[in-house]
Amino acid sequence: MDTNNNKLWETVHASRQWGKYPPEDVIRFIMNRYSSLPANEREDVKVLDIGCGQGAVSWFLAREGFSVTGVDVSPSAIEKARQYLEQDGLKAELQVADMKALTLPKEGFDCILDIESVYTHTIADIKNIYGDLFTLLKSGGSLFTMAFSTDCSNFGTGTKIEERTYTDIPSGSPGTGMVHYFERGELETILKGIGYAEIEVNQKTVTRNNGRDIISQWMVYGSKK
Ligand SMILES: C[S@@+](CC[C@H](N)C(=O)[O-])C[C@H]1O[C@@H](n2cnc3c(N)ncnc32)[C@H](O)[C@@H]1O
Repeated sequence: MDTNNNKLWETVHASRQWGKYPPEDVIRFIMNRYSSLPANEREDVKVLDIGCGQGAVSWFLAREGFSVTGVDVSPSAIEKARQYLEQDGLKAELQVADMKALTLPKEGFDCILDIESVYTHTIADIKNIYGDLFTLLKSGGSLFTMAFSTDCSNFGTGTKIEERTYTDIPSGSPGTGMVHYFERGELETILKGIGYAEIEVNQKTVTRNNGRDIISQWMVYGSKK
């Protein structure tokens, strides 16, 4: 268990606010699939928000009527997520848990969202986590995962842990804790090897700081047959 990285995330969540609204790509993914589903049928759709942080995505999902489980290793993140949903009268199952040792029901979820959380691990852990998430998906269920690309301008900075995994990244985004940057094709190969099907890979690249910082993300979909 990577207790240092876990402690770092707890320190971050205890000391600052982390996101309030979901990325538009998550909204698009969910709405493309479920917007035609009547409100009274949405609670039958079980969605797992893995590494949910302070609840931005879980809040959106609960507001749209889905049955939401949010999991994060940081107790402060989960407490803040609980308060965030409660203040709007929204409900979700929010749990403090390490995604490297999940005890959630096998084949319990129609949809799993990883909004930039799995990438915060070493490659061996990442492969295991995507494997465990596969077992949690129902047949016909889908995964949406977002992770950083080697095209980010801060790739290669900080302390190298292994190929494409760094920590103590001095500036730019991503910049908190350990980061595995994925090269083109890497996520697809990992997911295919586990058994995910219908994989679709998209990339989104933006600049910040007057063009000096490049932030590039993979947005990858996969399903379980
Ligand atoms: C970049 S943040 C993203 C948070 C959230 N998904 C969002 O979009 O606002 C990464 C999150 O992963 C969580 N995390 C990191 N390692 C974890 C682990 N092993 N198990 C569960 N959560 C973890 C962190 O606490 C943090 O909330």
